[in-house]
Amino acid sequence: MNYHIRFILLIAIAFFVNGQQNETTNQGDTIFIGPCAWVLSNRKCPDPDIKFYLHTRSNPDDRQLIHTDETWEKSNLSSSFYNPRYPVKVIIHGYNSDMMLTPLIDAKREYLQRGDYNLFFVDWAVLGPAPCYPSAVHNTRHVGECIAQLISRIRDTGNEDIHLVGFSLGAQVCNYVATTLRNDNYTIPRITGLDPAMPLFITTDLDNKLDASDAEFVDVVHTNALVQGQIERCGHVDFYLNGGIIQPGCSSFGVNPFQCSHHRAPDYFAESIQSTIGFWGWKCQSYFYYLFGMCTPTSDMQALAGEDCRKTTQGMYFINTNAVSPFAMGRITDSSTKSQQQPPQISINSIPHVDPFQSSIDILGKLEGNFNNLPYSTNNYDESQFFINHGSDRITHNFLSRLRHQNMNEQIKHKRPNSRQSRDDDNNHITFNKIVHE
Ligand SMILES: *[C@@H]1O[C@H](CO)[C@@H](O)[C@H](O)[C@H]1NC(C)=O
Ligand SMILES: *[C@@H]1O[C@H](CO)[C@@H](O)[C@H](O)[C@H]1NC(C)=O
Ligand SMILES: *[C@@H]1O[C@H](CO)[C@@H](O)[C@H](O)[C@H]1NC(C)=O
Repeated sequence: MNYHIRFILLIAIAFFVNGQQNETTNQGDTIFIGPCAWVLSNRKCPDPDIKFYLHTRSNPDDRQLIHTDETWEKSNLSSSFYNPRYPVKVIIHGYNSDMMLTPLIDAKREYLQRGDYNLFFVDWAVLGPAPCYPSAVHNTRHVGECIAQLISRIRDTGNEDIHLVGFSLGAQVCNYVATTLRNDNYTIPRITGLDPAMPLFITTDLDNKLDASDAEFVDVVHTNALVQGQIERCGHVDFYLNGGIIQPGCSSFGVNPFQCSHHRAPDYFAESIQSTIGFWGWKCQSYFYYLFGMCTPTSDMQALAGEDCRKTTQGMYFINTNAVSPFAMGRITDSSTKSQQQPPQISINSIPHVDPFQSSIDILGKLEGNFNNLPYSTNNYDESQFFINHGSDRITHNFLSRLRHQNMNEQIKHKRPNSRQSRDDDNNHITFNKIVHE
């Protein structure tokens, strides 16, 4: 496990360093470093790089591009198939993806078979491509701000049935939707996080990552914690599927087990929309208990995960699934608990640094208690500063100061010198002018 984490970090760093040697260009509200776009704080919403596509039962396949703006009049939701009487689902993809990702398309099909919905597909692929993970993380704030504008226009219609579903980095985008709408004293009714992306988010403060304060109800599904997802609890309820790290059916030859496990989160969610038996989990008081087999399936204290998760559910739950679709196993019965396998599939001996009892399994300091403000890793990689303890704000700050120190003035081509003025707001936003003149 540790090896793989290091490997992924190295790849990311390699790409990152590569990117930095690339040409840097400034387009007024965006800096490009090679293929990676870094949105500056003066970039506005609506943003042509963040597209909202509507699907309803009237147009299950032909998506409608929706323009949302500062006011209802300037937006064109009213000329679309949007119906304020139907629930709203806003679905957000992650890093190096778009809304054509199979499990997200599956979720659309399941919803539209189930009933009438306004399904908004948010496509921000242009701002989150590979190999640009650090800039994708940085851009999540801006993507969240623009989605907040969509939510405000939806609220103009009186519709209060609003549910955000974010996969991977898309789950972290939901945090910024929430923090933006907080300025209007509005709290989103529900956010579902599907295997929230971990790198750069695990230790940041609450305003910079998905957590229970972001909606009236936050439910989270973990399927590839430690690698692509995060293991720490971040919702009112957190479901750990098959232990939350590696999913059954993802270890076969030719399959990338991490990628497969990560994608199972939206697979399970899509199935949950119409599942007749459902994904039921048993409660556990901590991950630590689970790892040591002190938390075996029980028919007491069950909870249902996925679309029909009840808003009163709280805590940490474990769920077993089948290795192939249909994944759901239904309610846990007393007879089924006897035949269940014991959960821990992680061998404690396989994890290095086996010294004190807990740190041996808790290699990332992620398994118990309050996980905030702990370093991600103690390795000595040169670029590790980009992978420890920082969310969008810090990475932005660090990154931009590095740029400044690299004689950025010389490198930057002023392609659009008379572009919009920078907005010089709080110090979370580092504007381009500041970098140059500081
Ligand atoms: C940026 O880097 C990529 C990969 O290293 C390379 O293929 C590309 O040509 C570079 N672009 C510029 C403008 O240097
Ligand atoms: C809304 O406006 C955008 C941009 O002007 C346009 O491309 C889109 O087709 C419009 N959508 C509808 C449903 O009218
Ligand atoms: C939000 O609530 C606070 C405190 O009640 C109030 O001062 C502020 O004006 C409100 N803001 C908006 C945009 O309604």
